[in-house]
Amino acid sequence: MEFKQALRRRCSTRGFTSERVSDEDVKTIVDAAQLAPLALGDNKTSHLTVIRDPELMEVIRNACMLKRKDGTFLDPLFGATTMIIFSATDVSDDHIEYCNAGCVIENMCLTAADLGLGSCYIWGCLKKLRKNEEAVSKLNLPEGYEILSAFVCGYPKEEIVERTPGENIATDIL
Ligand SMILES: Cc1cc2nc3c(=O)[nH]c(=O)nc-3n(C[C@H](O)[C@H](O)[C@H](O)COP(=O)(O)O)c2cc1C
Repeated sequence: MEFKQALRRRCSTRGFTSERVSDEDVKTIVDAAQLAPLALGDNKTSHLTVIRDPELMEVIRNACMLKRKDGTFLDPLFGATTMIIFSATDVSDDHIEYCNAGCVIENMCLTAADLGLGSCYIWGCLKKLRKNEEAVSKLNLPEGYEILSAFVCGYPKEEIVERTPGENIATDIL
């Protein structure tokens, strides 16, 4: 796929089928993550955790699950069967590691689009996950690492339509 087309096809997918993403596609996505820029090139304090195991995925999904006001539950991972967590250690006072997370996750989202997959940046429900020590322990994060951001991908329930660039962000050209 042409780069511009992947850019236009990347969108937040909030409904995935149960079809599993292939190991090969997951590897391609992780390879793209490895090419992301990191502040000061510091790859020694960043970590990726790829969740593929269905049982573990359910543990994490349940730990993230959000309760609506009417008592029903919302799966904030949208049925995805693959999740990649970006964690870091020695998070600095200026929190630049969150910028690293954004760069890594965007590389993965664009690569997912290139592979014909849907994807979504995951942030909101991580607050709940972080508080669930039992679930977090199952991620085997290296000592001292904290979860900063996450990504999910899969086959979209609804067809992804290519978008045209609009005026999403107010832009001044000076
Ligand atoms: C830092 C960041 C955090 C986000 N967190 C979530 C999230 O927790 N759940 C979610 O469904 N979407 C999340 N999103 C996706 C945005 O809501 C989405 O990018 C935005 O609405 C624009 O839509 P688009 O991605 O389809 O272009 C996040 C995006 C970013 C950049």
